[in-house]
Amino acid sequence: MSNTLQHLAIIMDGNGRWAKERGLRRTKGHEAGVETVRRVTEYCAEDPEIETLTLYAFSTENWKRPRMEVDYLMHLLEKYIRLEQERYMEHGIRFETIGDLSPFSDKLRRTLKATRELTRNNRQLTQILALNYGARDEIVRSVRRVLEAGEEISEASIGRHLDTPYTDADLLIRTSGEQRLSNFLLWQLSYTELAFTDTYWPDFSVEELRSIIDDFKARQRKFGGI
Ligand code: FPP
Repeated sequence: MSNTLQHLAIIMDGNGRWAKERGLRRTKGHEAGVETVRRVTEYCAEDPEIETLTLYAFSTENWKRPRMEVDYLMHLLEKYIRLEQERYMEHGIRFETIGDLSPFSDKLRRTLKATRELTRNNRQLTQILALNYGARDEIVRSVRRVLEAGEEISEASIGRHLDTPYTDADLLIRTSGEQRLSNFLLWQLSYTELAFTDTYWPDFSVEELRSIIDDFKARQRKFGGI
């Protein structure tokens, strides 16, 4: 029996180094990274087993980057999501976000909301972008919601009040050679299989993704059992 891959999570890392190695500005690396987002998302939409793809696009710590880079990332995000609406519809992709959207501009928030609404009945794949996301922040906000709802604190109630209905990730991939979780999906990663590759995100190909998935399928998952 091979493992089922329903929820794939990815920390997209290495855009800056990819650009630097080519003597380009970091922003060019992010631009190239958008193409990889497209490739990987469409691959996942074609795979009948994969239901959810969660991508770490902007962390609560990314605000520490130079203002120009933050502004550029915001601009790129807004443009990507707006242009992507047609592809989301074409490929049956439902768009969702996790993270605290309150610091973003009205324009970006409007685009996010409109895209969520437009795609909400699509069933082929749910693409979740983690935006201004930090796992500790998500867990704290969930516990607050549990208390506000007057519910008992339990794994089930905390899981239910996370930013999206709780689903464990089956496989996490991080690109660019770093081997850290960086405050991503801590609750949802408790029993997740981890895969690290040295490839920078803009160079990450569908062939490499397929090979990582094949390796994941052959692993023995124990979930604490023997
Ligand atoms: C990591 O590279 C990447 C990010 C901080 C953001 C991810 C953004 C994209 C892939 C492009 C925009 C995304 C969407 C969904 C439109 P890094 O800058 O940390 O690279 P480095 O570690 O080499 O400096």
